[in-house]
Amino acid sequence: MDFDKIIDRRGTYCAKWDMMEPLYGVSPEDGLAMWVADTDFAVPEAVSAKMREMADHGVYGYVNSEAEYKGAIQWWMETRHGWSVEADAIFTTTGLVNGVGMCLDTFTQPGDGIVLFTPVYHAFAKVIRLAGREVVECQMVQQEGRYQLDFDAYDAQMTGREKMVILCSPHNPGGRVWTKAELEQVAAFCQRHDLMLISDEIHHDLVFTGHKHIPMPVAVPEIIDRLVMLTAPSKTFNFAGLHTGQVIIPDEKLREQFRRRMLAIYLQGNTAGEFATIAAYSPAGAAYVEELLPYLATNKALFDAAVNAIPGLKSMELQATYLAWVDFSGTGMEREEFTRRVEQGAKIAANHGTTFGSGGESFLRFNLGTQRSRVEEACARLTAAFSDLQ
Ligand SMILES: Cc1ncc(COP(=O)(O)O)c(C=O)c1O
Repeated sequence: MDFDKIIDRRGTYCAKWDMMEPLYGVSPEDGLAMWVADTDFAVPEAVSAKMREMADHGVYGYVNSEAEYKGAIQWWMETRHGWSVEADAIFTTTGLVNGVGMCLDTFTQPGDGIVLFTPVYHAFAKVIRLAGREVVECQMVQQEGRYQLDFDAYDAQMTGREKMVILCSPHNPGGRVWTKAELEQVAAFCQRHDLMLISDEIHHDLVFTGHKHIPMPVAVPEIIDRLVMLTAPSKTFNFAGLHTGQVIIPDEKLREQFRRRMLAIYLQGNTAGEFATIAAYSPAGAAYVEELLPYLATNKALFDAAVNAIPGLKSMELQATYLAWVDFSGTGMEREEFTRRVEQGAKIAANHGTTFGSGGESFLRFNLGTQRSRVEEACARLTAAFSDLQ
């Protein structure tokens, strides 16, 4: 793979590049889009070939690719994550935010409390509130420069109205890969307070050397009577626009409840997403990931070296994901001021930390899933935008 090759996404209805001007005031003419969590890389050739084959066929009627599609998912989970998944346990939603919405709808009632470990991926809180449930923010703490969970504090916060936890594993933002001991603590917390556990593992493949992602049902098999696991190939292989995610439910009782809800609204996968999954969850896809990870690691090393050299800025050590999480609190600047310098000075569109919930206020999130030359350009621009602090 030539990850260095610039692909111009401007003018292609691309959310990341074509929406940054209306949302951040950063022009795509000379700005850098470092917000939405997709990469600027082409998918593996095996996925492109499958898409071409589908397009060239010219008939897009109903399909039944279930056996091959679920087989590919089973193969990937087994070979990459050491988890043996039953075909019947796999459901397909139009992505994982939809998967979260479906879980809220199936397993909770309006007014129920839903626990999030914040700061966390912003769409969780959005769908919880829109579904008429209540967000319960359990803020993570920073120890030795990385996020940790503080269950003594969370125990004290519980009121009895909480019904569900949504865990992000690996965590976005901050890039934590939760250890087996931490996953056991999450499971014990759910058992203590009688909570369902939704484990969003969309970033499962994007884990750096020295860390190992453990799927929740592998880490704590005893929890499966209250567990729904969510995953997708979309972040790893860059096809989020195909809107295909998997909701995996090992427990038969929960599975039956979910199946009924899926049938009641007739939610089904789509051909392009399923075909792309078949092509990606393959040896060719595995080879792509093996090349992608070191590329991302070098992007991250370059970015961290430049950002951490600016007095007052601190980029969190990522164990997973391509989403750098930078704390500006050391500058002493108001949020408006450091954001203005990044957007109008450096001309970079980065996600605002406030949208990730409590604990995110002094941060911006920068997407490093892009060509090396763009990361280098971002480093130079940030250094210049904060040069008065040197
Ligand atoms: C943790 C997490 N879950 C879900 C999503 C979005 O998933 P989808 O596009 O499948 O709805 C993201 C996107 O960044 C994410 O980081």
